[in-house]
Amino acid sequence: MEIVDILIKNANELITLKGPDKSRTKKEMSNLSIINKGSIAVKDGIIVDVGKNLKYKSETVINAKGKIALPGFVDPHTHVVFAGSREFELDMKLRGLTYMDILKKGGGIFYTVNETRKAPEESLLRQSKNRLDSMLMHGTTTCEAKSGYGLETETELKILKILKKLNDSHSIDIVSTFLGAHAVPKGYSADEYVDVIINEMFPRLKGLAQFCDVFCEKGVFTVEQSRRILNTGKKYGLIPKIHADEIVDTGGASLAVEVGAISADHLLMSSDKGLKEMAKKCVIGVLLPGTPFSLMQQTYAPARKMIELGVPVALATDLNPNCWTENMQFIIQLACLNMKMTPAEAITAATFNAACALGLNSTIGSLEKGKQADVIILDCPNHKFIPYHFGVNLVETVIKNGRIV
Ligand code: NIG
Ligand code: FE
Repeated sequence: MEIVDILIKNANELITLKGPDKSRTKKEMSNLSIINKGSIAVKDGIIVDVGKNLKYKSETVINAKGKIALPGFVDPHTHVVFAGSREFELDMKLRGLTYMDILKKGGGIFYTVNETRKAPEESLLRQSKNRLDSMLMHGTTTCEAKSGYGLETETELKILKILKKLNDSHSIDIVSTFLGAHAVPKGYSADEYVDVIINEMFPRLKGLAQFCDVFCEKGVFTVEQSRRILNTGKKYGLIPKIHADEIVDTGGASLAVEVGAISADHLLMSSDKGLKEMAKKCVIGVLLPGTPFSLMQQTYAPARKMIELGVPVALATDLNPNCWTENMQFIIQLACLNMKMTPAEAITAATFNAACALGLNSTIGSLEKGKQADVIILDCPNHKFIPYHFGVNLVETVIKNGRIV
């Protein structure tokens, strides 16, 4: 009998997400490919078998009776490296100030930029590591993380180097995104700062980022400026992503399609035309319901409409000082309760489609033979409990790369 490293057996629901190896849309998002009383065998970090009553020998046998097992959550949009905190902004929000009001007063991103610029590297590393630890405890096994609290070359590089160190040392796999275009720093016009990004920052990013992102928004970077940045990034091998149509519809969704972005994120205000274009070109819509929640907004991204139009939808925390949560279970809860996604759709969006938003769907995002063994066990009887039993951490065991972490 073959000996494996870990055998998980008898899971009430083994949620495999087995299916086509491309982003799931429409009805496909509802199919979790669940095996009742399912087992999974892991060896050398890889899933070697999935099924019922598997016959393997292992020193580590996890009896998941009464529990569920699923792929580790993938969080495809975070700003995990930042210094300080902005809890005091809550009082301003309660008084009715909007996100943009706070930003225009020099708070928001600018407050965090000041804190991040002056933070010693060890401090920034430690603060970020603590958040990654919390993400892992809440079931996230892979995440994306952006720079963007430097807005000057050296600090942007400092953040990306910290992400590289964290990726090398932490159990969570981190994919880095360069977001030099997160805001326009004091003393520059937007066009002047775009020149700095293009002439000074891009040439120094080698090996430090895989994606390039822009905060394309009224009062931040225009569609034209965003296009210039993302197209130049492509020449440096960076795949475009975009913060699009969060507050105003500027045509960010269409720009994402035009530049060949892998995802467009936020999308609260996108036009039907933009969403239809995204559906046609399979640009992933990464929805971040934590952000309108933290801003106490009534409006969320139109997830139902997007799914009906055929946009492949993913979910992410947007972890940042304005929306501070490490917890993808909470995001699934918001997706269901505030955006009317079904539990199955939200789970697909937080695993397989999230992996697609990082181009990693051939190795993670589903539990299939040959894939990386990133598996989480949740102490609940079925997947509908994730949005139903909210405000607690249901994760009991996290297996990353075939090791219990
Ligand atoms: O995705 N909107 C722009 N960027 C972040 C927020 C960053 C911040 O407020 O510090 C977001 O929500
Ligand atoms: Fe963001």
